Amino acid sequence: MILCSDPHAQFLDNKTAIESAIARVLDSGRYILGPETQAFEKEFAEFTGNKYCCGVANGTDALLLALKACGIGAGDEVITVSLTASATVSAIYQSGAKAIYVDIDPRSYTMDVNQLQQKINSRTKAILPVHLYGHPAAMGSIMEIANQNKLTVIEDCAQAHGATLNDKMVGSFGHLACFSFYPTKNLGAIGDGGAVVSNDKALADKVRLLREYGWEEKFNSSIHGWNSRLDEIQAAILRVKLEKLPHFNKCRADLASIYNTELQGLGLVPPAVRDGCTHVYHLYVVRLSAREALIGHLKDKGITVGIHYPVPVHQQTAYRALDTDLGFTEQACEEIISLPMYPELGSKIETVCDAIKSFFAKN
Ligand SMILES: Cc1ncc(COP(=O)(O)O)c(C=O)c1O
Repeated sequence: MILCSDPHAQFLDNKTAIESAIARVLDSGRYILGPETQAFEKEFAEFTGNKYCCGVANGTDALLLALKACGIGAGDEVITVSLTASATVSAIYQSGAKAIYVDIDPRSYTMDVNQLQQKINSRTKAILPVHLYGHPAAMGSIMEIANQNKLTVIEDCAQAHGATLNDKMVGSFGHLACFSFYPTKNLGAIGDGGAVVSNDKALADKVRLLREYGWEEKFNSSIHGWNSRLDEIQAAILRVKLEKLPHFNKCRADLASIYNTELQGLGLVPPAVRDGCTHVYHLYVVRLSAREALIGHLKDKGITVGIHYPVPVHQQTAYRALDTDLGFTEQACEEIISLPMYPELGSKIETVCDAIKSFFAKN
């Protein structure tokens, strides 16, 4: 059996270090917002090229608190993409704002910046690009358009820990950036976790208030806030894994290059990498117009693949917006397949490639 992602394999490979990090927290008696969270926040801020980091409970909350820190709420519009986890859009609606969708660039699967300007009006407050699958969105153009229109930019980095654009980390371009540490992510906890990073002290301070009851000082809420804290045990585990993140990302890139070589010429559209970008392959996504037969063939051979995502957000019941022209997004959702991709996949990738080749040999 080969899974599409396998966080358990990463635990087994790092068992001793993870178990001793957990034991350190248990023995410390500090279980909420203690020294592990503080240390992780400092280390992760540095890693992403930011001055500030605020650990929160998950990636969806990271986006919600970032939006609220920017004062976004009812009556406001936030421009984003529809090819993303529904969490991106859920956070926009939780803030009270409305999501406005732009189509994707069909090669990188990230925001088509050519459509941005035409979606901006007096209600627009922010642009929320997603670095989907581990590939950076076109942040140069996005920041330029945002600055011209005085808009806030919040990066959704949930799938792109460590990806770079012109040698600069994703998460260091926008006013705020949000990460998820869901177990399968490039930097994954063993449970839920998330973070907001920023170089803007006022915005970072606001997120810090919002994540804990709006407390500037204990037992005295100065603003309406939430409870969205990063757990101390998860912070300790994340510190172990952050040290290894460059190695994990290198393993993913090596696997991607094996897929690129082994699968060429079969008729699958491989992931593209735009000039100046490093892709961190949270997912390795190929396209095939009649994908169901290939998925069935792989399943018969014990190989699980994913579809990220089968239904674009604008076609989901809660977030329906059917008047929009999102042709590339809709086409991608019908053709994409996420092949097994995680740092510990190792030589099992050969089994996956052989199985894919055997499908095309008989079809
Ligand atoms: C692009 C994107 N944004 C946001 C999220 C939400 O993160 P979480 O599941 O930690 O709330 C995810 C995770 O699935 C994601 O992939």
